[in-house]
Amino acid sequence: MLPLFIRSIKFLIGAAFIFVLGLALFGTVKTWIQEPPAETAEEAMHHHPKELDLPSNGPLGKFDLAQLQRGFLVYEKVCASCHSLNLVAFRNLADLGYSEAEIKKIAKDWPIKQPVQDPKAGTWGERDNLPSDRFPKVYYPGTGTPPDLSLMTKARHDGAAYVYSLLTGYNEKPSAENLKKFPEFAKTPDGMYFNPYFANLNISMPPPLTGDDQVTYTDGTRATVDQMAKDVSAFLVWTAEPTMQSRHRAGLAVVAFLLIATGLAYGAYLTVWRGVKH
Ligand code: HEC
Repeated sequence: MLPLFIRSIKFLIGAAFIFVLGLALFGTVKTWIQEPPAETAEEAMHHHPKELDLPSNGPLGKFDLAQLQRGFLVYEKVCASCHSLNLVAFRNLADLGYSEAEIKKIAKDWPIKQPVQDPKAGTWGERDNLPSDRFPKVYYPGTGTPPDLSLMTKARHDGAAYVYSLLTGYNEKPSAENLKKFPEFAKTPDGMYFNPYFANLNISMPPPLTGDDQVTYTDGTRATVDQMAKDVSAFLVWTAEPTMQSRHRAGLAVVAFLLIATGLAYGAYLTVWRGVKH
């Protein structure tokens, strides 16, 4: 008699738990249907990055050195006054086709100098950059902190396309309909700029690329805002993974090797079993 009672009480307790959980689930679903969560400003206005067709895209992607050089020029003339590249040294520019003498000159003329401490007095001074130095960090007095750009295209979803979209996204304003829903966006806070590609929607980076021919390309390419944004994004793909091309090449070699090895293994299998199977 007793064992049966104990067994059924287990089921009763279990059923009570299931009932309470079911009730809670029902309540949640009911409120969610009756009062669906309001759309957030991020859901209404944030855009995914635009398409960006770069030669480095895809598993067989390659760098276009002329484009990387143009992108470096944009970094040098526009971005470097705020952003460092602390994982890239001047001498790494040799990968882009610059000669040793050119690299020495670029490093020496770089307007942002390297800080040095006097070992005796302990005071800080400056010296010119050397090819072995990394692209230096900038003291930035404005609102916000410009992040280091070395790994930016790896740190953001769809990195290169994101950087490109961010740089060309400043002139898209919230639609009248969205302004009615989110009146706080009618006035962008001081020191901020509306940009629908930035997750926060208001970014503290002033639009860096403001007009065509802001830099002077020497290879005949027209320096439109769109082109400069594309080129600097391509350059930042290189800074984040300078060995991408050899990784792709190694991948191809491995796939080719595996294909040949599979053929050989199949041939060996046929030979070994020839006498047995027929
Ligand atoms: C006047 C200074 C300034 C210049 C010039 C500048 N930036 Fe910025 N940048 C900033 C600041 C400040 C932030 C931080 C923004 C924030 O978090 O609100 C930033 C952030 C960024 C971000 C990160 C956005 C994110 O998702 O966090 C990227 C990418 C970027 N800048 C790229 C560039 C590129 C490329 C150039 C050159 C074409 C450039 N910036 C030129 C000041 C600058």
